Amino acid sequence: MHAAPATFLVTGGAGFIGTNFIRHTLTLRPQWHLICLDALTYAGNPANLDDLPERYGERYRFIHGSILDEKVLSNLFREENIAGVIHFAAESHVDRSIHKPQTFIETNVNGTCRLLTICQEMWEKTGKPAYFRFLHVSTDEVYGSLDDVGYFTEASPYAPNSPYSASKAASDHFVRAWHHTFGLPAIVTNCSNNYGPYQFPEKLIPLMILNILEERELPVYGDGANVRDWLYVIDHCEALLSVLEKGLPGETYLIGGGAEKRNIEIVELLCERLDQILDRRGRKRSHHLIRFVTDRPGHDYRYAIDASKIAAQLGWRARFQFEDAIEATIHWYLAHRDWVAAIRSGAYRQWLETNYDNR
Ligand code: NAD
Ligand code: DAU
Repeated sequence: MHAAPATFLVTGGAGFIGTNFIRHTLTLRPQWHLICLDALTYAGNPANLDDLPERYGERYRFIHGSILDEKVLSNLFREENIAGVIHFAAESHVDRSIHKPQTFIETNVNGTCRLLTICQEMWEKTGKPAYFRFLHVSTDEVYGSLDDVGYFTEASPYAPNSPYSASKAASDHFVRAWHHTFGLPAIVTNCSNNYGPYQFPEKLIPLMILNILEERELPVYGDGANVRDWLYVIDHCEALLSVLEKGLPGETYLIGGGAEKRNIEIVELLCERLDQILDRRGRKRSHHLIRFVTDRPGHDYRYAIDASKIAAQLGWRARFQFEDAIEATIHWYLAHRDWVAAIRSGAYRQWLETNYDNR
């Protein structure tokens, strides 16, 4: 599919996963053109993609705009012959959704519906091309929380627990409805926790790396026993390409890395590894920075993915071992202190104060 030149719209491409997806896909699919549409919220960073126009010429274009803006979307679909949409744009941080749920409803629910509406109109106007795909990038959090045994599968019931996961669950249902009712060739993916380059340092792994570097406290929610199934972001990007090229409209695919870790294990591992790299010994060891703080309200205990459907049907499996990819991630943050410095603006500091000061 799409061996010929094709243009894809990537929403939210200036965020963590979108940036990795755009950079990786431009290399892997030399025939493809990508248009990034991003509203540049606090989580979107145009500097992530700055070098691309020069490197890829007309194969890459950036549009500053929102998925909530009907005019921007209609103009874009009129001007370009879009073969598919990879929909990343969202508010993505659970803690922020607890402080301010309304933005999550606006972007994740209303924004997705607006995008679906315009895609549907354009898909019909252009004669319902069979190759068109709407790929909705969603999360395993829509399935709620597991105890110590079992895995999420495509048949797991929806049971979102946070305003973030509820908004993503709602968007998944709308995507499904657009396929079922109007025939839009849409696919949903639900993925576990990603880590890797360009992740905004409000999320566990980059936050801990940077706090260790700066010898700040390491806030572990509750007792640190919660489990996440970690996936290197490049593996996620490759899974999305498989789904885009080989997945069936109307289907859901779960994506996971099979690397379950307790939060405290992650934090201790990052302390140990950075202590080795920075040659911190004895009383300088970072372990003393760990603080068990008030738990996240409604904190899901465990996520774990059974990724056998995507493996059996599309031939995708995670390529990266956790130990290698976490090492690469640590080194990326060490080598990109300017990227980090640019992000740690007043707005970022204000978030840290809002989220952590009363814990
Ligand atoms: P992110 O917060 O790093 O990036 C989100 C991007 O969306 C930002 O660039 C932001 O500017 C943009 N955006 C926000 N509102 C917008 C709007 N109205 N119009 C256009 N752009 C807008 O998020 P991420 O971690 O890269 O996640 C991307 C997607 O993948 C999200 O939909 C998220 O739910 C999903 N997901 C993330 C993970 C993970 O571990 N990070 C795992 C599974 C699924
Ligand atoms: O499962 C997929 C989801 O993973 C994505 O849909 C979300 O967009 C993404 O943010 C992520 O959600 P989590 O809530 O799991 O990620 P976060 O990095 O915020 O937290 C990971 C775990 O670490 C979680 O159990 C809470 C804990 N934590 C987090 C922070 C920021 C801490 O203990 N301390 C912290 O300071």
